[in-house]
Amino acid sequence: MKILVTGGMGYIGSHTVVELQHAGHEVVVVDNLSNADARVRERVQRITGKAFVFEEADIRDRAAMERIFGAHKVDAVIHFAGLKAVGESVAQPLRYYDNNVNGSVILFETMAKSGVKTIVFSSSATVYGDPASVPIREDFPLSATNPYGRSKLMIEDILRDLAKAEPDWRIALLRYFNPVGAHESGLIGEEPNGIPNNLVPYIAQVANGQRDKLSVFGGDYPTPDGTGLRDYIHVVDLAIGHVKTLDRLAREPGIVTYNLGTGRGNSVLEMVRAFEQACGRPIPYQIVERRPGDVAQCYADPAKAREELGWTAERDVAQMCADVWRYQTTAK
Ligand code: NAD
Ligand code: WQD
Repeated sequence: MKILVTGGMGYIGSHTVVELQHAGHEVVVVDNLSNADARVRERVQRITGKAFVFEEADIRDRAAMERIFGAHKVDAVIHFAGLKAVGESVAQPLRYYDNNVNGSVILFETMAKSGVKTIVFSSSATVYGDPASVPIREDFPLSATNPYGRSKLMIEDILRDLAKAEPDWRIALLRYFNPVGAHESGLIGEEPNGIPNNLVPYIAQVANGQRDKLSVFGGDYPTPDGTGLRDYIHVVDLAIGHVKTLDRLAREPGIVTYNLGTGRGNSVLEMVRAFEQACGRPIPYQIVERRPGDVAQCYADPAKAREELGWTAERDVAQMCADVWRYQTTAK
């Protein structure tokens, strides 16, 4: 199939382009490069030995999107384009709603106009808010605690309404848990902007000497070692989940929702130890106050994706950390 990937130059998108090409799909990437490096294109092509079309455009640019859908006869869309920093979304809610929600509506309208009715959307475990229990199933109640999360929930709601109104659409909502890791080639990975908000990118910068020490946000959670538990999923496993989801959508129309996680929770201190093993250096840390808005534990019940997509996450935290370290230390 020919797949249009919005945000395909970004972290998860670039790994998904690799897996789409491995699976024999043709790829058209649309990205405005607001959070990506144009050199990613050549690196992906070095990994797969295959070229893809790159259209530098903003998904909110209706004329550009109509031209792109007209120029490339695509069968389906995977929609990664969006802004994703929780703290930034609290400070700049309008920017987040415009980019994420308005951008998505323009994308869906352009798709409808071009007769493309298959879409995989990047949602997030953040739509479960503070879950009443773990592991989290897809039918748990949804809520949002910040504008970023609310933008994801709004886009999910828009797609649920669309599926009701037009049952011939094929829609997948994929709720990612905590994506980490990099491609095993060391050529593509995550490039955080400024001070990393997320745990593993921060640890990686402590390991390479860019930062002095990690602040561990809270040591008094009701978890085995007192630090927060999360479901860290290797970005390559996540990318493969998208290819499997396209196969699922090809089988029948309608809307489907899947958790993409491992089903395991790892604590902050376990991630510190795993990274120390991977890089062979100590990671200095200090336990500080809890971060406002954090939950004690968040991990998936991935049974539905296993049963309906035939997908399970295979890579463990040791490999995630080894791949992040390789990405940081590989000359590109
Ligand atoms: P990323 O920032 O690396 O990738 C997003 C890409 O979209 C970037 O290349 C950026 O340049 C592009 N983009 C942003 N706005 C655009 C616009 N208006 N038009 C065109 N391109 C635009 O982020 P990522 O980590 O790869 O995340 C991809 C998607 O997955 C996002 O929607 C994010 O919300 C979602 N998600 C990410 C995580 C995570 O922890 N990384 C977790 C759950 C969900
Ligand atoms: C993980 C754990 C922190 C940094 C966020 C978004 C979520 C999703 C994924 C997009 C927590 C602790 C962190 C640090 C720390 N993104 N931590 N020191 O908060 O689970 O999820 O990214 O959809 O929406 O909220 O991920 O990596 O920030 O934190 O101790 O410097 O690490 O308290 O327990 P989180 P994270």
